[in-house]
Amino acid sequence: MAAPGTRQAPSDADDALDTLAVRSDGARDPRSVNQRARDEDPWARYRDDGIGAPLERRPVLVLNDVTKRYPNGREALRDVDLSIPEGDFVFLVGASGAGKSTLMKLLIRDELATQGEVLLDGEDLARLPRRKVPQVRRKIGIVFQDYKLLPTKTVRENVAFALEVTGTPRGRIGPAVERALRLVGLTLQAEQFPRQLSGGEQQRTAIARALVHDPRIVIADEPTGNLDPLISWEIIQLLLRINELGVTVLMATHDADVVTALRRRVVALEEGRVIRDEVGGGYHRRG
Ligand SMILES: Nc1ncnc2c1ncn2[C@@H]1O[C@H](COP(=O)(O)OP(=O)(O)OP(=O)(O)O)[C@@H](O)[C@H]1O
Ligand SMILES: [Mg+2]
Repeated sequence: MAAPGTRQAPSDADDALDTLAVRSDGARDPRSVNQRARDEDPWARYRDDGIGAPLERRPVLVLNDVTKRYPNGREALRDVDLSIPEGDFVFLVGASGAGKSTLMKLLIRDELATQGEVLLDGEDLARLPRRKVPQVRRKIGIVFQDYKLLPTKTVRENVAFALEVTGTPRGRIGPAVERALRLVGLTLQAEQFPRQLSGGEQQRTAIARALVHDPRIVIADEPTGNLDPLISWEIIQLLLRINELGVTVLMATHDADVVTALRRRVVALEEGRVIRDEVGGGYHRRG
């Protein structure tokens, strides 16, 4: 079965549109236009077909038969298969202890899978040479429930710090920070310290920090867990806007109202297993 949110790969019937395949030297290329494109560019079928809808969105995150057993023997994830195409907005739900944070830790290589593979942008995280880890991690922006801001740095400095530690040239830091702060609506609070911000503003700072690298995917582990319902909605709206800009979003949450209202893709975990994966699902199982 195709993963929810993806389409079937284009059929060979597409190859019927083939008669224009002429090589640059003028000779007829026996391959079809589509086949030639696929041979030259394996990702071609995932790209826009020029008419409108993408043929098939490329999976940015893939878990193949993943089991995670912690050293104390606790199995936090069992036989998890998951494919998240670029541009998806996915809610990860499940009771406390179901394995949501563990799954996210695997995605940022904070933990390694005991079995199976975790692919980020086609790269197997377990096989990644150590020197490539920072580069791959930068494809992900992370947002936590407790914000994890540095208390002695201002909003601007907190966001800039994420670029400084990765050796981004000074001249690029300023404009990137401005852009991220504008996106989350914190330009006016840029010189304030975390203790001078509301919870919602602190979380928006954390989101700006997650975005400043221009990540492909944002992972948010219960980002609204410490916020009241109104502010939670603002944070969700912000994540939706970021998703509209093309960033894939995976959000773990206990917020049933939000999940049910938004009708996005919902992946539900129970005791480490995926028990439900549906587009347009509610927080709770139907029926
Ligand atoms: N470092 C660890 N060592 C041993 N067991 C762990 C470790 N981290 C998590 N676990 C266990 O793995 C299971 C899944 O934990 P996880 O934190 O992934 O759950 P969760 O779905 O994020 O829960 P919550 O909604 O409470 O945040 C739990 O039983 C937990 O006790
Ligand atoms: Mg958790």
